[in-house]
Amino acid sequence: MRPVRRDQPGTAELRQTIETQRIGCEMAGSALYAHVLSAVATDVTVGGPCARLLAPFASAPFGDAVLLRFLAALHLVVLDGREPDLASHYPSVGGLPGPAAGLAFVAAAQRHEAEVARLLHLGVQTNEVGRSASLLGGFLALGRLGLPLRVLEIGASAGLNLRFDRYRYEAGGASFGPVDSPLRFVDPWVGRAPDLASPLVIASRRGCDLDPIDPTSVAGRRRLQAYIWPDQPQRRARLDAALAVAGKFPVVIDAADAVVWASEYLADSVPGQLTVLVHSIMFQYLPPDSRRALLMVIDRAGACATTDAPVAWLRMEPGGDVAETRLTVWPPGIPHLMATSSYHGPPVAWVATDQASAQ
Ligand SMILES: C[S@@+](CC[C@H](N)C(=O)[O-])C[C@H]1O[C@@H](n2cnc3c(N)ncnc32)[C@H](O)[C@@H]1O
Repeated sequence: MRPVRRDQPGTAELRQTIETQRIGCEMAGSALYAHVLSAVATDVTVGGPCARLLAPFASAPFGDAVLLRFLAALHLVVLDGREPDLASHYPSVGGLPGPAAGLAFVAAAQRHEAEVARLLHLGVQTNEVGRSASLLGGFLALGRLGLPLRVLEIGASAGLNLRFDRYRYEAGGASFGPVDSPLRFVDPWVGRAPDLASPLVIASRRGCDLDPIDPTSVAGRRRLQAYIWPDQPQRRARLDAALAVAGKFPVVIDAADAVVWASEYLADSVPGQLTVLVHSIMFQYLPPDSRRALLMVIDRAGACATTDAPVAWLRMEPGGDVAETRLTVWPPGIPHLMATSSYHGPPVAWVATDQASAQ
């Protein structure tokens, strides 16, 4: 393939996007991906394979996470055992990151260019189960209102966070969740923890995703694993434990757009149940019109809510360098900041006031 010209339109924007992602990976604890992205930036500058692959996305907003899709595409090839050179730098397959990791990544991108180009068009599938630790306190606050929860998740991916109550959480002497769960969060909170003794009854749970992942299929699991950064074994262990839970505890994830689906499911309230719409790190993937439409759907559901059929909106979304977990319950419809955390969950700072915890 012909190298792209150095002054191709969008190259400066692309380099800026790569730099922002590089800093994000560094801050979130992946020295390997920070190093790899430096090499990607250099390759974009000289018009190499990364420039060719990323050129069609040069003007994509940062929120589209094109770089995460790029990194995951090559990680998938590594996990498949088809890229031994790059694999030698990836701890996820027993490698050790070395100074040549960046060059190995660029060379791998060239070797698998057609496949990576195809994979780049698929959406991000980071189903990060650590986010359950950020969301749990919100669910527990809702449980204290005394009604069973009807949980609806949009952008659920494989639905791993819809199974949040199947995981074990421990803080000090307190705990929540099955003692024998394969996934244990030990002290995920910094400072105080939410009240883990709160009663919680889940009446039903269901999710939707544009491109749902089947966590029981080999391909589905591999795709989720590819989105875990290769030098973050703790996240990978969490994912594998959550996949073990998913194998035993099926959850329905409809293939549907978030706005259409939320509008349908929020239209019907269920007397005697608290309907909670939940989402995490998905709002940025909606086009601006869909974001507005979703907020209108939620507002409408809130306006129709009653004390016998209340509606809640629990969301964990970016708030600058941290992710913020917010909760609104209608009536009365007052938003509360419940927690801040990393984008992948722990460490979680539980910041809810007593009033917010009691809603
Ligand atoms: C970064 S992942 C987050 C997955 C999950 N919420 C989590 O926190 O682990 C974003 C998810 O949103 C989904 N998504 C993006 N746009 C969507 C839309 N319009 N409707 C439904 N799901 C969407 C993607 O397919 C993907 O599974």
